[in-house]
Amino acid sequence: MNVHVKDDNFLKENNARHMWHPMAHPADSLANPPAIITKGEGVHITDIDGHRVVDAVGGLWNVNLGFSCEPVKQAITRQLDVLPYYSTFRGTTNDCAIELSYELANFFEPDGLVRAFYTSGGGDSVETALRLSRQYHKVRGEPGRVKFISLKKGYHGTHMGGASVNGNANFRTQYEPLLPGCHHIPAPYTYRNPFNESDPAKLAQLCAAALEDEIAFQGASTIAAFIMEPILGAGGVIPPHESFMPMVREICDRNGILLIADEVITAFGRTGSWSGSRHWGVKPDMACTAKAITNGYFPFGAVMMAQGVVDVFENDKTGNANVGHGYTYSGHPVGAAAAIACLAETKRLNVADNAAARGKELYEGCLKLMEKYELIGDVRGGHGLMTAMELVSDRKTKMPIDKALPMRLQEATYQNGTMVRVSGPNVILSPALILTQADVETILSSLDAGFSAVSGN
Ligand SMILES: Cc1ncc(COP(=O)(O)O)c(C=O)c1O
Repeated sequence: MNVHVKDDNFLKENNARHMWHPMAHPADSLANPPAIITKGEGVHITDIDGHRVVDAVGGLWNVNLGFSCEPVKQAITRQLDVLPYYSTFRGTTNDCAIELSYELANFFEPDGLVRAFYTSGGGDSVETALRLSRQYHKVRGEPGRVKFISLKKGYHGTHMGGASVNGNANFRTQYEPLLPGCHHIPAPYTYRNPFNESDPAKLAQLCAAALEDEIAFQGASTIAAFIMEPILGAGGVIPPHESFMPMVREICDRNGILLIADEVITAFGRTGSWSGSRHWGVKPDMACTAKAITNGYFPFGAVMMAQGVVDVFENDKTGNANVGHGYTYSGHPVGAAAAIACLAETKRLNVADNAAARGKELYEGCLKLMEKYELIGDVRGGHGLMTAMELVSDRKTKMPIDKALPMRLQEATYQNGTMVRVSGPNVILSPALILTQADVETILSSLDAGFSAVSGN
């Protein structure tokens, strides 16, 4: 039963007519109205016509425990009854925010992250980390450290600061001018890179050398932070070689630059490890989290900070460490209650191990599809449940695919039992971490049928 009050015809008639969709052309949404999802259960979603499929998108990399996670639902409804909102701005707090901060400090202890600053989502977390990293240097007496360096292909949300460190022109060009002082280096993306280097270890070294070069060019004393996703997600799932993030850590240390890990996707088990930084054996200075922190059921996020950062703020005597930053919903008690329940369930189910096992099957299945379908130019993944296939019109020249084809593939795959997401030439798979082996098979057979439909074999 649907909980909305209007009937299905009303919904179809009004679909996309009075709202704009993120990451879509408004005219295209009118011409090709989006799928109306009305129900979610486990790893399945059902649309308005009753078509039920496996959701290989996992909501949007966030519904890690699926759509039927009772403990999180109950925590939300209970908290709504007791205290639906109270602020954490100076002078007040709430019980859930306190308890969650304790749990998060425990969870991220192996990453060396000891304090939380709450936000309302991933973009807010990135903005928070960027702002606090500048303040960190000002408080320390190096006010000239204001610039940011990041990876091309990286995705850090669409706030003005996040878009400025974002590495994809789609989120930048129409919104320029962006923040000054943001500079980018090549991503360790073996399939396409300016060095024409396909060996992951060698490419990691070249990208690290490019970082050193950029730091020398800008002047280390002008740079506040380097921000990166431990495994690039929205840019098309780009896992760097295992040596890359440790090299970045060492370069940042040597140059007094903070390392911000954007773990909005990678925290809480998606990579097969409990955090993306831990996956590579790196301790960042700050980590941005959001998405799966509440299983996607409540907009919430947290920036976690390392002891070194914390000490500078907490030992300040000048008053400059007063945090002039925050959101009405920072530490929202309903979000915090959701996150407490979600963390407990995430650990109880040990989803990181399942993500690693199912992720391997999904990645290997996609490699098999690549043997069968010429239009798959590259398959990336192998680290938990983050997998992408990059489509090309010619494997030899890596010519980009006709723009309409990925959408046709998405539709054909959907008709055959699985929701996948296409972004540019990439088919991105980021299902819930509670996925079963049978669900992996469904995803792969739907994709097989989808590819067969669009490639005519
Ligand atoms: C790595 C990363 N950072 C930041 C964001 C932005 O998060 P939000 O959409 O919640 O603002 C995303 C969203 O996909 C992300 O993947």
